Amino acid sequence: GRLRLPGPARLGSSGAAVQRAPQAAGAEEAGEDAGISARKKTFTEVQTERLEQAEQTVLIKCPPKINEKKLLQYLSSHGNIKSHFFFENHGIHALVEFSEKNSIASLQDAIGIPSTAEHYVVPFKSRLFTFKLKNPVSQAAEETPVHLSPQSHIPVNELIQKLCCADSISTQMYILLNEYQLTEENIKLRFLACSLVRDFARAFFPDSTVKPFGSSVNTFGKLGCDVDMFLDFHDIQKHATMMKKGPFEMEYQMKRLPSERLATQKILSVIGDCLDNFGPGCSSVQKILHARCPLVKFSHQPTGFQCDLSVSNSIAIRSSELLYIYGCLDSRVRALVFSVRCWARVHGLTNSVPGTWITNFSLTMMVMFFLQKRSPPIIPTLNQLKELAGEKDKHVIGGYDCSFVSDLSKIKPTKNTETLDVLLGDFFEYFGNFDFRKNSINLRKGKEVNKPESSPLYIWNPFEQDLNISKNVNQPQLEKFVAMARESAWILQKEDKTQRKINKEPWGLAAILIPFGKSNPSKMKNRMKGIGSETIRSLLDSLKLNTANTVQKAAGK
Ligand code: CTP
Ligand code: MG
Repeated sequence: GRLRLPGPARLGSSGAAVQRAPQAAGAEEAGEDAGISARKKTFTEVQTERLEQAEQTVLIKCPPKINEKKLLQYLSSHGNIKSHFFFENHGIHALVEFSEKNSIASLQDAIGIPSTAEHYVVPFKSRLFTFKLKNPVSQAAEETPVHLSPQSHIPVNELIQKLCCADSISTQMYILLNEYQLTEENIKLRFLACSLVRDFARAFFPDSTVKPFGSSVNTFGKLGCDVDMFLDFHDIQKHATMMKKGPFEMEYQMKRLPSERLATQKILSVIGDCLDNFGPGCSSVQKILHARCPLVKFSHQPTGFQCDLSVSNSIAIRSSELLYIYGCLDSRVRALVFSVRCWARVHGLTNSVPGTWITNFSLTMMVMFFLQKRSPPIIPTLNQLKELAGEKDKHVIGGYDCSFVSDLSKIKPTKNTETLDVLLGDFFEYFGNFDFRKNSINLRKGKEVNKPESSPLYIWNPFEQDLNISKNVNQPQLEKFVAMARESAWILQKEDKTQRKINKEPWGLAAILIPFGKSNPSKMKNRMKGIGSETIRSLLDSLKLNTANTVQKAAGK
């Protein structure tokens, strides 16, 4: 048949991060949207708005000393500047967003092409510029220090210190969330990276778009995580509906290939080559075309992101939107996910390289499941969200019904008033005692169901009901997770907060973000009844290896 790109497949595990709840958008947007501020924007509305903004945005490398006012004045001659910020990434950079798209063309027309004696430049004109002072000595004298917006989170040991000053675990969890979540500026930078890749894709496919998915947009991303992006040929659907009208049909002649996979590989291969050969600041381009979900990995130096580019995967987009909805429903959801993810990273349960460990995505789904199981539930099951779906929310992808409500205001707020103090402790207790041998985690039903096969950890893909999203997890990794969960539940229950505070010892969330084990492995053994001695030995060994540098490493991904 014709080129049909969206299709179900598992995506490569990589980092990406996210999006704040839409109401936390920049001040300028808050004013503009006052009319609809009563309701939260849908996922699609937020995405569309941010993609449009990114197309009106440029990135400028600046000299070390710069006069902010003069730079803005210079740029304003090409149009009104809607927002801007500076950040440090091997030198100072400015992200500048214009109010209108034609300002970009006007600016591009006015700027020069570099001439160097040693190099030949590839004449591809992007939206990445370098700003130079013609007379650095006298001009630098006019410099004013610019505010640099941080693009990474504080190291774990600094976080732990901050947490110790809080007055409750709940406050600690919100502090962690605030320190780690994506900022408005970082989200803008992520959408810009996608938009710059789109400029290459459009050279071949003028209707294509490059959109972020995964943790860059699902509200669960943390500063520093990778950007998952996909190429979308959205016009294909529009043409399909157009063809239904009238007595005739006209269609494009298009190259036919034996499989969708092959088409995906060919497209990604060419775009990967383009990025590699002509993309300013694109380096370490790796084509991973034989993976289950073919992708191109590259590092985008101007924005500082590690990127994973794949071709439109409708199911992954639905799971990004589902998580977005859960993340927006109740403020406790994101606070709990961020704490659990940070905890897992510190204890080596997750890792930035793919392997047999639990992924952040699986961990997030486990938190969602736990929140569905509270009484009363904090978030609805996927089946309940499906019942609320309107006509426009209908999505059937590859035979799977992926419909669920997109309008957040149609979902009744929860009556559950439990504190995060309780939820954090109960999360560890719940999974510390979960019958993983027998049960699987099903978010569609919000219930444990018998495992359909013997994978150690079985979490149903919410949309492709025969896929396990945590198939990669092996028995030792699962047991390590259970042991750490039990240890953490125990610490949270037993500790005397007041005494710890007097002794200036880490308490609450801070206490479980410090690697355990080394201090008293025998104490830990008692809480691991039921786990094979073989596993205990390997667990203790891994603890010995990990403890020393885990805190430091955790500052990584
Ligand atoms: N995905 C999936 N099934 C999997 C793994 C991933 O459907 N087994 C989809 C999810 O939509 C996920 C996205 O691919 O959000 C990106 O995967 P990944 O980068 O591994 O997870 P993130 O959610 O982006 O989390 P991280 O911050 O660790 O990158
Ligand atoms: Mg990711």
